[in-house]
Amino acid sequence: MSDNSEQTRAQRREMPEPYESNFPAPWYVIVFVAGLFIWAVGYIGMAYRDAPSSLGDHRVAADFVVAKAAPGAAIDGGQIYTSHCLACHQATGQGLPGVFPPLAGSEWVDGKASTTIQIVLHGVEGALTVKGTTYRGQMPTFKDQLDDGQIAAVVSHIRASFGNSAGAVTADEVKAERERTKDHTAPWNGDAELNPFK
Ligand code: HEC
Repeated sequence: MSDNSEQTRAQRREMPEPYESNFPAPWYVIVFVAGLFIWAVGYIGMAYRDAPSSLGDHRVAADFVVAKAAPGAAIDGGQIYTSHCLACHQATGQGLPGVFPPLAGSEWVDGKASTTIQIVLHGVEGALTVKGTTYRGQMPTFKDQLDDGQIAAVVSHIRASFGNSAGAVTADEVKAERERTKDHTAPWNGDAELNPFK
């Protein structure tokens, strides 16, 4: 920068123009970042599942496993209840007044196991009386969604929960009930069709 009288004072005061040069990130920074990345992935893999559920939303790894009827494996009826029934009959088994009937203390649950199995297999529509109240809702069909073992597990669960104390049912009983009404395709028509099963 010569003493050129053409340059103004302001021009002379400025720093020289910046110029680009080849200045790669030092190898140790690259190694450090790569190491951090590998550590982070490993950390997620190791720490996530086994962290105490009290630190999160209290769900444990088992809550995310969808029940599959693996041969010989015990099926968790409570889990099937949570995924397939709870939305309507509620966690307490009390249902919703006037909309979804209670399972707690229900004569349909505490009575003959075959009746409860038939209700879960085919579902119900039309007027159904539960504990003196008539419901006119639609209970979905589960015969294509749940296998014999799963229906046995969930029926056993509701018969032993919410204050109910009826006995457990086996997959063989469900199989027999499924066979007995295999030609039935529509949901049961409430009291009219189900009372004879009682
Ligand atoms: C979409 C809501 C819904 C779901 C999901 C549902 N139900 Fe129901 N359930 C009903 C309704 C509604 C009725 C009454 C039907 C009627 O009024 O005709 C009923 C009736 C019943 C009854 C006979 C009445 C009583 O309260 O005892 C049983 C037993 C039953 N459901 C068990 C189950 C089980 C077990 C599951 C899960 C596998 C299940 N339900 C899933 C809505 C549902």
